[in-house]
Amino acid sequence: MTNKGESEVTKSGDVSEAQRASDDFLVRRRLRDGATKARYQELVIGRPGFLSLVLYETVVTLTSWVPGALGLVLRRYLYPLLLGDVGKKPVFGRNVVLRHPHKIALGDRVIIDDNCLLDAKGANNQGIRIGNDVFLGRNSILSCKDGDIHLEDGVNIGFNSYIFSGSTVKVGRDSLFAAYCYVIGGGHDFEDPEAPVQEQVAVSHGVEIGSNVWLGAGVKVLDGVTVGANTVVGAGAVVSGDLPDRCIAAGLPAKVLRER
Ligand SMILES: CC(C)(COP(=O)(O)OP(=O)(O)OC[C@H]1O[C@@H](n2cnc3c(N)ncnc32)[C@H](O)[C@@H]1OP(=O)(O)O)[C@@H](O)C(=O)NCCC(=O)NCCS
Repeated sequence: MTNKGESEVTKSGDVSEAQRASDDFLVRRRLRDGATKARYQELVIGRPGFLSLVLYETVVTLTSWVPGALGLVLRRYLYPLLLGDVGKKPVFGRNVVLRHPHKIALGDRVIIDDNCLLDAKGANNQGIRIGNDVFLGRNSILSCKDGDIHLEDGVNIGFNSYIFSGSTVKVGRDSLFAAYCYVIGGGHDFEDPEAPVQEQVAVSHGVEIGSNVWLGAGVKVLDGVTVGANTVVGAGAVVSGDLPDRCIAAGLPAKVLRER
Protein backbone atom coordinates (compact mmCIF):
# COMPACT_ATOMS: atom_id res chain seq x y z
CA MET A 1 0.00 0.00 0.00
CA THR A 2 1.28 3.47 -0.74
CA ASN A 3 1.97 6.03 1.90
CA LYS A 4 -1.58 7.25 2.39
CA GLY A 5 -0.90 9.27 5.48
CA GLU A 6 2.16 10.91 3.99
CA SER A 7 0.55 11.78 0.67
CA GLU A 8 -2.59 13.15 2.32
CA VAL A 9 -0.57 15.44 4.45
CA THR A 10 1.44 16.72 1.51
CA LYS A 11 -1.52 16.93 -0.90
CA SER A 12 -3.55 19.04 1.47
CA GLY A 13 -0.63 21.44 1.79
CA ASP A 14 -0.32 20.68 5.46
CA VAL A 15 2.88 20.31 7.40
CA SER A 16 5.29 17.51 6.53
CA GLU A 17 5.31 14.30 8.52
CA ALA A 18 8.50 15.21 10.35
CA GLN A 19 7.08 18.58 11.29
CA ARG A 20 3.88 16.94 12.44
CA ALA A 21 5.81 14.67 14.78
CA SER A 22 7.78 17.48 16.30
CA ASP A 23 4.63 19.61 16.56
CA ASP A 24 3.02 16.69 18.32
CA PHE A 25 5.84 16.56 20.78
CA LEU A 26 5.60 20.30 21.37
CA VAL A 27 1.86 20.07 21.92
CA ARG A 28 2.36 17.34 24.49
CA ARG A 29 5.02 19.36 26.24
CA ARG A 30 2.78 22.44 26.25
CA LEU A 31 -0.07 20.39 27.66
CA ARG A 32 2.17 18.99 30.35
CA ASP A 33 3.23 22.47 31.35
CA GLY A 34 -0.10 24.22 30.81
CA ALA A 35 -2.97 24.86 33.15
CA THR A 36 -4.98 21.79 34.11
CA LYS A 37 -8.27 23.10 32.74
CA ALA A 38 -6.75 24.02 29.38
CA ARG A 39 -5.04 20.63 29.19
CA TYR A 40 -8.25 18.78 29.98
CA GLN A 41 -10.24 20.83 27.53
CA GLU A 42 -7.74 20.33 24.69
CA LEU A 43 -7.37 16.59 25.26
CA VAL A 44 -10.92 15.60 26.09
CA ILE A 45 -13.37 18.16 24.78
CA GLY A 46 -11.40 19.48 21.84
CA ARG A 47 -13.13 22.84 21.87
CA PRO A 48 -12.36 25.99 23.80
CA GLY A 49 -14.87 27.90 25.87
CA PHE A 50 -16.59 27.57 29.21
CA LEU A 51 -19.92 26.51 27.71
CA SER A 52 -18.36 23.51 25.92
CA LEU A 53 -16.81 22.45 29.20
CA VAL A 54 -20.04 22.85 31.17
CA LEU A 55 -22.10 20.95 28.59
CA TYR A 56 -19.63 18.06 28.43
CA GLU A 57 -19.32 17.80 32.20
CA THR A 58 -23.07 17.97 32.74
CA VAL A 59 -23.87 15.23 30.23
CA VAL A 60 -21.10 12.92 31.42
CA THR A 61 -21.72 13.44 35.11
CA LEU A 62 -25.46 12.91 34.83
CA THR A 63 -25.51 9.97 32.44
CA SER A 64 -22.31 8.02 31.78
CA TRP A 65 -22.41 5.93 34.96
CA VAL A 66 -26.17 5.30 35.22
CA PRO A 67 -26.97 1.55 35.04
CA GLY A 68 -29.89 -0.25 33.44
CA ALA A 69 -32.60 1.02 31.15
CA LEU A 70 -32.60 4.48 32.71
CA GLY A 71 -28.94 4.91 31.75
CA LEU A 72 -29.62 3.80 28.18
CA VAL A 73 -32.47 6.28 27.85
CA LEU A 74 -30.52 9.17 29.36
CA ARG A 75 -27.51 8.57 27.15
CA ARG A 76 -29.64 8.15 24.03
CA TYR A 77 -31.05 11.64 24.49
CA LEU A 78 -28.09 13.46 26.03
CA TYR A 79 -24.96 12.07 24.32
CA PRO A 80 -26.14 13.47 20.97
CA LEU A 81 -25.77 16.96 22.45
CA LEU A 82 -22.02 16.33 22.44
CA LEU A 83 -21.65 14.38 19.20
CA GLY A 84 -21.23 15.80 15.71
CA ASP A 85 -24.01 13.80 14.12
CA VAL A 86 -26.21 10.94 15.35
CA GLY A 87 -28.71 8.79 13.45
CA LYS A 88 -31.80 7.03 14.77
CA LYS A 89 -31.91 4.86 17.89
CA PRO A 90 -28.31 4.91 19.10
CA VAL A 91 -27.39 2.75 22.10
CA PHE A 92 -24.62 3.85 24.43
CA GLY A 93 -23.57 1.44 27.18
CA ARG A 94 -22.27 2.43 30.57
CA ASN A 95 -19.04 4.41 30.84
CA VAL A 96 -18.74 5.07 27.13
CA VAL A 97 -16.11 7.80 26.90
CA LEU A 98 -16.14 10.33 24.06
CA ARG A 99 -13.17 12.57 23.32
CA HIS A 100 -13.47 15.44 20.84
CA PRO A 101 -17.09 14.25 20.43
CA HIS A 102 -18.06 16.95 17.92
CA LYS A 103 -15.82 15.09 15.43
CA ILE A 104 -17.70 11.81 15.87
CA ALA A 105 -20.60 10.98 13.52
CA LEU A 106 -22.87 7.96 13.96
CA GLY A 107 -25.34 6.44 11.51
CA ASP A 108 -28.65 4.82 12.42
CA ARG A 109 -29.00 2.04 15.01
CA VAL A 110 -25.38 2.12 16.16
CA ILE A 111 -24.67 0.16 19.34
CA ILE A 112 -21.68 1.09 21.49
CA ASP A 113 -21.31 -1.31 24.37
CA ASP A 114 -20.06 -0.62 27.91
CA ASN A 115 -16.63 0.94 28.54
CA CYS A 116 -15.84 1.81 24.93
CA LEU A 117 -13.62 4.78 24.19
CA LEU A 118 -14.17 6.85 21.04
CA ASP A 119 -11.30 9.29 20.83
CA ALA A 120 -11.35 11.60 17.80
CA LYS A 121 -8.43 13.64 19.07
CA GLY A 122 -6.42 15.69 16.59
CA ALA A 123 -5.77 19.21 15.44
CA ASN A 124 -6.44 18.80 11.71
CA ASN A 125 -8.44 15.59 11.39
CA GLN A 126 -12.05 14.85 10.53
CA GLY A 127 -12.40 12.22 13.26
CA ILE A 128 -14.55 9.10 13.55
CA ARG A 129 -17.34 8.22 11.12
CA ILE A 130 -19.51 5.19 11.89
CA GLY A 131 -22.13 3.90 9.45
CA ASN A 132 -25.56 2.37 10.03
CA ASP A 133 -26.05 -0.79 12.11
CA VAL A 134 -22.50 -0.86 13.45
CA PHE A 135 -21.80 -2.72 16.70
CA LEU A 136 -18.83 -1.90 18.90
CA GLY A 137 -18.17 -4.57 21.54
CA ARG A 138 -17.43 -3.74 25.13
CA ASN A 139 -14.05 -2.31 26.15
CA SER A 140 -13.18 -1.53 22.55
CA ILE A 141 -11.25 1.57 21.59
CA LEU A 142 -11.32 3.74 18.48
CA SER A 143 -8.39 6.08 18.83
CA CYS A 144 -7.31 8.89 16.49
CA LYS A 145 -4.13 10.84 16.79
CA ASP A 146 -4.68 13.44 14.12
CA GLY A 147 -6.13 10.67 11.99
CA ASP A 148 -9.53 9.47 10.83
CA ILE A 149 -11.44 6.23 11.33
CA HIS A 150 -14.33 5.18 9.11
CA LEU A 151 -16.40 2.10 9.87
CA GLU A 152 -18.86 1.41 7.06
CA ASP A 153 -22.41 0.10 7.49
CA GLY A 154 -22.85 -3.20 9.30
CA VAL A 155 -19.35 -3.47 10.77
CA ASN A 156 -19.20 -5.58 13.92
CA ILE A 157 -16.23 -5.15 16.26
CA GLY A 158 -15.70 -7.80 18.95
CA PHE A 159 -14.97 -6.89 22.55
CA ASN A 160 -11.56 -5.61 23.65
CA SER A 161 -10.57 -4.59 20.15
CA TYR A 162 -8.49 -1.54 19.34
CA ILE A 163 -8.39 0.54 16.17
CA PHE A 164 -5.75 3.25 16.05
CA SER A 165 -5.37 5.82 13.29
CA GLY A 166 -2.60 8.33 12.74
CA SER A 167 -3.84 9.01 9.18
CA THR A 168 -6.73 6.99 7.71
CA VAL A 169 -8.19 3.65 8.79
CA LYS A 170 -11.19 2.34 6.90
CA VAL A 171 -13.16 -0.83 7.60
CA GLY A 172 -15.48 -1.95 4.81
CA ARG A 173 -19.15 -2.81 4.99
CA ASP A 174 -20.25 -5.87 7.02
CA SER A 175 -16.74 -6.74 8.20
CA LEU A 176 -16.51 -8.73 11.40
CA PHE A 177 -13.73 -8.52 13.96
CA ALA A 178 -13.59 -11.24 16.62
CA ALA A 179 -12.45 -10.24 20.10
CA TYR A 180 -9.03 -8.74 20.83
CA CYS A 181 -8.25 -7.51 17.32
CA TYR A 182 -5.80 -4.65 16.92
CA VAL A 183 -5.57 -2.44 13.85
CA ILE A 184 -2.36 -0.51 14.23
CA GLY A 185 -2.72 2.44 11.88
CA GLY A 186 0.48 4.24 12.84
CA GLY A 187 3.58 4.17 14.96
CA HIS A 188 6.93 5.83 15.45
CA ASP A 189 10.15 6.04 13.57
CA PHE A 190 12.92 4.38 15.56
CA GLU A 191 15.97 5.34 13.50
CA ASP A 192 17.80 6.98 16.40
CA PRO A 193 18.51 4.31 19.01
CA GLU A 194 19.45 6.87 21.65
CA ALA A 195 16.41 9.18 21.47
CA PRO A 196 13.14 8.14 23.15
CA VAL A 197 10.93 6.51 20.53
CA GLN A 198 8.01 8.68 21.55
CA GLU A 199 9.97 11.79 20.58
CA GLN A 200 10.82 10.47 17.12
CA VAL A 201 8.81 11.08 13.96
CA ALA A 202 5.26 9.72 14.11
CA VAL A 203 4.64 7.61 11.02
CA SER A 204 1.28 6.52 9.69
CA HIS A 205 0.46 5.10 6.27
CA GLY A 206 -3.08 4.01 7.10
CA VAL A 207 -4.96 0.71 6.91
CA GLU A 208 -7.74 -0.32 4.56
CA ILE A 209 -9.88 -3.37 5.30
CA GLY A 210 -12.31 -4.35 2.55
CA SER A 211 -15.96 -5.27 2.89
CA ASN A 212 -17.07 -8.55 4.46
CA VAL A 213 -13.66 -9.30 5.94
CA TRP A 214 -13.57 -11.59 8.97
CA LEU A 215 -10.65 -11.10 11.35
CA GLY A 216 -10.37 -14.05 13.75
CA ALA A 217 -9.68 -13.62 17.43
CA GLY A 218 -6.59 -11.63 18.31
CA VAL A 219 -5.59 -10.64 14.77
CA LYS A 220 -3.18 -7.73 14.45
CA VAL A 221 -3.12 -5.66 11.27
CA LEU A 222 0.00 -3.52 10.90
CA ASP A 223 0.24 -0.02 9.47
CA GLY A 224 0.21 0.38 5.68
CA VAL A 225 -1.71 -2.84 5.01
CA THR A 226 -4.69 -3.43 2.74
CA VAL A 227 -6.90 -6.47 3.35
CA GLY A 228 -9.02 -7.37 0.31
CA ALA A 229 -12.79 -7.80 0.38
CA ASN A 230 -14.36 -11.14 1.44
CA THR A 231 -11.11 -12.34 3.01
CA VAL A 232 -10.83 -14.35 6.24
CA VAL A 233 -7.84 -13.96 8.55
CA GLY A 234 -7.19 -16.78 11.03
CA ALA A 235 -7.04 -16.32 14.78
CA GLY A 236 -3.81 -14.87 16.10
CA ALA A 237 -2.43 -13.76 12.73
CA VAL A 238 -0.17 -10.76 12.30
CA VAL A 239 -0.99 -9.15 8.96
CA SER A 240 2.18 -7.34 7.90
CA GLY A 241 1.57 -7.20 4.14
CA ASP A 242 -1.39 -6.76 1.80
CA LEU A 243 -3.86 -9.64 1.46
CA PRO A 244 -5.89 -10.13 -1.73
CA ASP A 245 -9.68 -10.43 -2.05
CA ARG A 246 -11.43 -13.73 -1.28
CA CYS A 247 -8.66 -15.60 0.46
CA ILE A 248 -8.11 -17.35 3.76
CA ALA A 249 -4.88 -16.29 5.43
CA ALA A 250 -3.26 -17.12 8.76
CA GLY A 251 0.02 -17.16 10.65
CA LEU A 252 2.85 -14.87 11.70
CA PRO A 253 3.22 -13.16 9.33
CA ALA A 254 -0.13 -13.94 7.71
CA LYS A 255 0.17 -15.99 4.50
CA VAL A 256 -2.58 -17.01 2.12
CA LEU A 257 -3.66 -20.61 2.86
CA ARG A 258 -6.15 -20.81 0.03
CA GLU A 259 -8.73 -18.92 -1.98
CA ARG A 260 -12.34 -18.85 -0.92
C1 LIG B 1 -8.09 -19.59 9.51
C2 LIG B 1 -9.31 -20.49 9.64
C3 LIG B 1 -10.55 -19.74 9.18
C4 LIG B 1 -8.99 -21.66 8.71
O1 LIG B 1 -10.00 -22.55 8.66
P1 LIG B 1 -9.91 -23.78 7.58
O2 LIG B 1 -9.95 -23.25 6.20
O3 LIG B 1 -10.95 -24.72 7.98
O4 LIG B 1 -8.45 -24.33 7.74
P2 LIG B 1 -7.94 -25.71 8.34
O5 LIG B 1 -8.45 -25.91 9.71
O6 LIG B 1 -8.25 -26.76 7.30
O7 LIG B 1 -6.38 -25.48 8.41
C5 LIG B 1 -5.57 -25.34 7.26
C6 LIG B 1 -4.12 -25.15 7.71
O8 LIG B 1 -3.99 -23.85 8.31
C7 LIG B 1 -3.56 -23.97 9.65
N1 LIG B 1 -4.28 -22.97 10.43
C8 LIG B 1 -5.62 -22.87 10.61
N2 LIG B 1 -5.91 -21.81 11.36
C9 LIG B 1 -4.75 -21.23 11.67
C10 LIG B 1 -4.42 -20.10 12.43
N3 LIG B 1 -5.36 -19.36 13.01
N4 LIG B 1 -3.12 -19.75 12.54
C11 LIG B 1 -2.16 -20.51 11.94
N5 LIG B 1 -2.42 -21.59 11.20
C12 LIG B 1 -3.70 -21.96 11.08
C13 LIG B 1 -3.92 -25.37 10.07
O9 LIG B 1 -3.08 -25.83 11.11
C14 LIG B 1 -3.69 -26.14 8.78
O10 LIG B 1 -2.31 -26.33 8.62
P3 LIG B 1 -1.75 -27.68 7.92
O11 LIG B 1 -2.31 -27.66 6.52
O12 LIG B 1 -0.28 -27.52 7.98
O13 LIG B 1 -2.28 -28.80 8.73
C15 LIG B 1 -9.56 -20.92 11.09
O14 LIG B 1 -8.59 -21.86 11.49
C16 LIG B 1 -9.55 -19.75 12.08
O15 LIG B 1 -8.50 -19.31 12.58
N6 LIG B 1 -10.75 -19.23 12.34
C17 LIG B 1 -10.95 -18.08 13.22
C18 LIG B 1 -11.80 -18.51 14.42
C19 LIG B 1 -12.07 -17.35 15.33
O16 LIG B 1 -11.21 -16.54 15.62
N7 LIG B 1 -13.30 -17.26 15.79
C20 LIG B 1 -13.71 -16.14 16.64
C21 LIG B 1 -15.21 -16.08 16.69
S1 LIG B 1 -15.87 -14.65 15.80
